[in-house]
Amino acid sequence: TVKGVIFDLDGVLVDTAIFHFQAWKQLANSLGFDFTEKQNEQLKGVSRIRSLELILAWGGISKTAREQELLANQKNSWYLDLVNKMKPGDTLPGAIELLTCLKENNYKIALGSASKNALLILERTGIVNFFDVIVDGNTVTASKPAPEVFLKGAKSLNIDSAKCLVLEDAQAGIDAARAAGMYVIGIGKYSGLTGANCLINNLNELLED
Ligand code: G6P
Ligand code: MG
Repeated sequence: TVKGVIFDLDGVLVDTAIFHFQAWKQLANSLGFDFTEKQNEQLKGVSRIRSLELILAWGGISKTAREQELLANQKNSWYLDLVNKMKPGDTLPGAIELLTCLKENNYKIALGSASKNALLILERTGIVNFFDVIVDGNTVTASKPAPEVFLKGAKSLNIDSAKCLVLEDAQAGIDAARAAGMYVIGIGKYSGLTGANCLINNLNELLED
């Protein structure tokens, strides 16, 4: 039976995928090419620097490591302009209700995110106190689909992987959770996600019974 629940952040608890999209699009446009929502789908769960590498490849542009670092910083500063407008309650439907329900029922709760901005986002949206453990892009070296982020979460919660449930909206994240030997619920029924134990549209569907 499940004892711990590990949440992805972007696209599961908060609607920041659109902010990532806007900031990457601004960066691509500044370099003279476009960036589509379809391409953005492929960046879900993918680290900032790896995302940039993919975008530069799509735009047919090559940059030195130093230039890439500056471009990643530029994108992040545009992204943070959007994040800094977030307020308590700016969470996806069902998020606060589900976190509250899990807490009341004594489940352990962890965050398992690739984002280096995770703590800031949890604080701004007022949900940081629900988390027993936060594993994010600052603590993980091998990005999803590597299982490291979720294995670290389970270890810090002191719960067996086989007793952890992961909530994910990204294919890379679902693959990571499976590789960690965990149950995984995919968010986005019509998004073409594969390999999850089940798919739902939003967190409200977990609260119905
Ligand atoms: C999440 C998002 C990705 C993002 C990554 C790194 O996995 O789904 O789109 O690139 O985090 O986020 P960061 O906030 O560190 O740039
Ligand atoms: Mg996500």
